[in-house]
Amino acid sequence: MKKLVFTLLACAASFAASAADVSKGEALVKKYNCASCHGADYNKPIDPSYPKLAGQHADYLAHALRAYKRGAAANGRTNPIMAGQVQPLSNKDMEDIGAYLASLPSNFVVSK
Ligand code: HEC
Repeated sequence: MKKLVFTLLACAASFAASAADVSKGEALVKKYNCASCHGADYNKPIDPSYPKLAGQHADYLAHALRAYKRGAAANGRTNPIMAGQVQPLSNKDMEDIGAYLASLPSNFVVSK
């Protein structure tokens, strides 16, 4: 019984450790100044070809960041600008950034 309780606690602890952290994500986008291109509130990119990030799905954002890091490999995304941006980011950093950006108010609309 004791062993079972310990195992359950260990699982809970590892789950907590892997949960995305919105405040860490906020600190990371500030540190790397992602808003210099993606714009104020991540809603007003400096160029129309630069995507809005606020309010996109967290898992999609993290997936996109991992794809830029994979580059030309299978399921990768090759973009010379973003390739440079993602190099210092760990998988956990990308999850945290995705969670933060997803938490922001978005001006995306659903058209009828
Ligand atoms: C120098 C300008 C620049 C900076 C700085 C920059 N980005 Fe980007 N970002 C871009 C451009 C341009 C694209 C579109 C690339 C493409 O066509 O795939 C993009 C695309 C993205 C996408 C994909 C969005 C989608 O809808 O698929 C994500 C996510 C992203 N950037 C996150 C970040 C994060 C996080 C940072 C900071 C670590 C950052 N960017 C810094 C220019 C920039």
